Amino acid sequence: MLHPKTTEITFKLNNGVQIPALGLGTASPRERAQETKQAVKAAIKAGYRHIDTAWFYRTEPIIGEALKELLENGDIKREDIFVTSKVWPSNWNHVSESLDQSLHDLGLEYVDLYLQHWPLCFQRIEDDKDGIHGIKGIPLEKESKALFEEGADWIKTYKQLEKIYLDPKDKRVRSIGVSNFPVEYLQRVLKDCEVKPALNQVEIHPQLPQLELKKFCAEQNILLTAYSPMGSSGAPVIKLPLVKELSEKYKVTVNDIIISYHIRKGTVVIPRSLNPVRIAGCIEFAPLTEEEINKLDDIGKKDPVRYIDEFFAPSIPGFTGTK
Ligand SMILES: NC(=O)c1ccc[n+]([C@@H]2O[C@H](COP(=O)([O-])OP(=O)(O)OC[C@H]3O[C@@H](n4cnc5c(N)ncnc54)[C@H](OP(=O)(O)O)[C@@H]3O)[C@@H](O)[C@H]2O)c1
Repeated sequence: MLHPKTTEITFKLNNGVQIPALGLGTASPRERAQETKQAVKAAIKAGYRHIDTAWFYRTEPIIGEALKELLENGDIKREDIFVTSKVWPSNWNHVSESLDQSLHDLGLEYVDLYLQHWPLCFQRIEDDKDGIHGIKGIPLEKESKALFEEGADWIKTYKQLEKIYLDPKDKRVRSIGVSNFPVEYLQRVLKDCEVKPALNQVEIHPQLPQLELKKFCAEQNILLTAYSPMGSSGAPVIKLPLVKELSEKYKVTVNDIIISYHIRKGTVVIPRSLNPVRIAGCIEFAPLTEEEINKLDDIGKKDPVRYIDEFFAPSIPGFTGTK
């Protein structure tokens, strides 16, 4: 049976907006900006229609350059691509301003999805030398101890996103959502806010299947996006023996197995790569069986591993802050 390429599969958000199931992650190192630009162009040429970025990644200006060239060259039209950006905890009370900066850097009039990056509020400290738009990314009290805004409430950030989304004259976002939100935090959003998040972007892969969060989000019609699907730098997830075994069975790459595992579960997936050959060569869909998916989930059920366990996040259930 012929299957579509993973770049051709889309899901529907709870507000009706279509989201491509596969997107390109762009949290790449600052010194590799030119490669990031080439990766975005390679991805679009390979059929990707979804780019994931954020104010914090500092990659928005270079992505903006890549998109400008692709748009001017007629490779894509703006309405054919889906761009996600995120507001960082230093801007927790400056959402509209941060969104304007992201749009300016991306050279776009709107983003398709705008996420609250973390349910945290950092102090907003100026830093003209190494800051992002003059603001410190992670303000530190001392090494590995972030400076939080005392008395600030992360729900205020989501309420600012909601205000932008609900204003009929404001066309800057097509949908809004969250990232790194556990069930308890989503419940609070559902109780205190008007707009249900369209999506929650969290770390998911066979070593961290997040099955309870998945169940809750499915019941609430909130889509999940899997970040760090390969286990981040070094791609440890693709080295799991079962992943290798399945890649041989389906005659696809190990990356394809991981991407297909997420898409099979109805989860959006955003692998990062700066390798144009890898980007173009990992778009085959493997029709994994339910049994195979359960076996992959069992790996993390037995021995969960979270690769992105940020030092500033131990207040959030599920995080320990040790990586
Ligand atoms: N919302 C959040 O808080 C959050 C947190 C983390 C990440 N994210 C998003 O999710 C995206 C993806 O996560 P991630 O960047 O942590 O990493 P990832 O996609 O899990 O892994 C990317 C790394 O794996 C390497 N890789 C992939 N396939 C490989 C292979 N077959 N052999 C060797 N190396 C391979 C890539 O190297 P090459 O470049 O050589 O291919 C790259 O260094 C991010 O870029 C970002 O957009 C969001």
